[in-house]
Amino acid sequence: AAPTDYQAEDATISQGVVESNHAGFTGTGFVNYDNLVGSYVEWTVSAPAGPADVTLRYANGTAANRPLDWTVNGQAGAVGITYPGTGAWTTWQTKTVRLQLVAGVNKIRARATTADGGPNADRLTVNPTTNDTNPPS
Ligand code: GCU
Repeated sequence: AAPTDYQAEDATISQGVVESNHAGFTGTGFVNYDNLVGSYVEWTVSAPAGPADVTLRYANGTAANRPLDWTVNGQAGAVGITYPGTGAWTTWQTKTVRLQLVAGVNKIRARATTADGGPNADRLTVNPTTNDTNPPS
């Protein structure tokens, strides 16, 4: 299957707000996670069963890492993934995790695990793969 983009501003947001004050985002804005543990963005993704490379486009204008835990339908997927500073809130970078998806609906949640909340989240790209041996980069 081809990669599919899902904007963060179209996802389910718990303890966060859609903003557009930092240039360089795609779509109509990005999600600013509230600065607390447990804020999250959850995308609803249809996919074939199997591994997928899941890429978050994000910005972090601070010097501190803003880690996220990734779950799929409530199951642990990728824990403690780091989102270090990108240099500015207008500097967007990508980071990919490998998640195991199920056929049909996948609720892919990225949850902040520190009091700083998550990085600003622009977009998720989901790329199902048949190759489960190469780690994502
Ligand atoms: C600033 C910035 C926001 C960011 C926030 C944060 O307020 O403008 O885009 O989300 O810092 O530290 O989380």
